[in-house]
Amino acid sequence: MLASGGFLVSGVTLKQLPLLEEERGSLSFGEVMRHVPFEVRRYYVIFGVPEGQGRGDHAHRATHQFNVCVRGSCHIAADDGTNRAEFVLDTPATALYVAPMVWTREFRFSPDAVLLVLASSYYDPADYLRDRSEFLAIKART
Ligand code: TYD
Repeated sequence: MLASGGFLVSGVTLKQLPLLEEERGSLSFGEVMRHVPFEVRRYYVIFGVPEGQGRGDHAHRATHQFNVCVRGSCHIAADDGTNRAEFVLDTPATALYVAPMVWTREFRFSPDAVLLVLASSYYDPADYLRDRSEFLAIKART
């Protein structure tokens, strides 16, 4: 769900995933190139984030990411250098797609939160933009 800001952040999309709720329990899924808009090369999981701590605070030059909070809840703030929005992920049936060159920060993790992130590339430190002014300078000339 959108917590604040508008849907104006370029490269960021909140997606509803299929959800099958049955007496036996619930099932949600996402298919590559149908729900996940890129070929997945990697996943990582963030969990056990202490209260008050945040993750991220960077952008990726070329990596696409698909965030699903599969347990608990967390907030993701995303901005394209001009517009900012904040999203709450609190169900496995919602995903936040983040394109390259979007600055994100993950925070307000519930104690039980498990954030699954699908990524379009193998891990490469050179893909990270951690300097906010460098990010803004690149955005300004593209
Ligand atoms: P980092 O990307 O800084 O985490 P976050 O964005 O959540 O704050 O990564 C933290 C550490 O984990 C860093 O040493 C790099 C390593 N790492 C990998 O080896 N592979 C990965 O896929 C990721 C995301 C991180």
